[in-house]
Amino acid sequence: MRSLTTEHTLTIDDLVWPLFVMDQKQACEPIASLPGVYRFGREQLWQCAEEALSQGIRALALFAVVDCSKKDLIGSAAICADGFMPQLITDLKQDFPQLGLIADVALDPYTSHGHDGVVDCEGQIRADETVRMLCEQAVVLGQAGADVVAPSDMMDGRVGCIRQSLDDRGLSSVMICSYAVKYASCLYAPFRQAVGSPLASFGSEKASYQLPCDRIMEAMREVAFDIKEGADIIMIKPASMSGDVIRSVHQSFALPIWAYQVSGEYAMIRAAASAGYVDLKSLVLEQMICLKRAGAGAIVSYFAPQVAQWLKQGT
Ligand code: PBG
Repeated sequence: MRSLTTEHTLTIDDLVWPLFVMDQKQACEPIASLPGVYRFGREQLWQCAEEALSQGIRALALFAVVDCSKKDLIGSAAICADGFMPQLITDLKQDFPQLGLIADVALDPYTSHGHDGVVDCEGQIRADETVRMLCEQAVVLGQAGADVVAPSDMMDGRVGCIRQSLDDRGLSSVMICSYAVKYASCLYAPFRQAVGSPLASFGSEKASYQLPCDRIMEAMREVAFDIKEGADIIMIKPASMSGDVIRSVHQSFALPIWAYQVSGEYAMIRAAASAGYVDLKSLVLEQMICLKRAGAGAIVSYFAPQVAQWLKQGT
């Protein structure tokens, strides 16, 4: 009776696996605040792709870890067609055509100051210049073979411009997953450590373009804008603190919603579990079912391969 009255289930089809990749043949660098997550080189990425496919995970979300010597004030390496990220994507797609590749679009791994956009000398974001860079970056990643480009920067108006740029270059089949609702959260700190974005590690530094957590109406407006501009998927994060937003967006718009269980959420869960305060598997699965209940169509999580294993074993 209980299974006949189940309302929501979690399956492997619900999972996206985020990975940090470096411009190296071989690398497996641990990240202090993300135990069990690594900065991988090419060879390790290929192993992850194989693992994903064998587990039934259908898509990877790739984040670049860029060497400091390649960073500058405007993040110019982000739009370099022969940069390591586009090359990785092309090669990975060739070897694993059935694996979905979601490429992050934002300048923070490439800027020396760690902001997602171009900033002026007073530290203000230069929106137009930033959007132009993001469009170029999206085209480079789309041309390389990414199935989805995912602008995670939160600059106004970038989804429409990216869509136009992709279409102009014959890349109309590349989808856009817009981080339409990205709250300015302290929970991104481990991610910033992972990609080495130094300045931005101060919690509120990105508050001029990310959303303050004290509002939901504005979140709904952001979603409406991005859908109108051509978004195919709406990303909401941090996942576990945004159940209300996921629910509202799910009720108001007919579009897939993805929830990103971000680095700090992963870190909190890992810390509590390793202290023996909670059971890891129970907590992770409970949280994911609750995200499905809220209305998430898929969940981006560093726990993805682990969850896939649990699901395979039968919970
Ligand atoms: C930046 C970006 C961030 C995350 C994804 N893309 C960090 C930030 O906004 O500073 C965070 C993801 C996570 O914490 O796991 N473009």
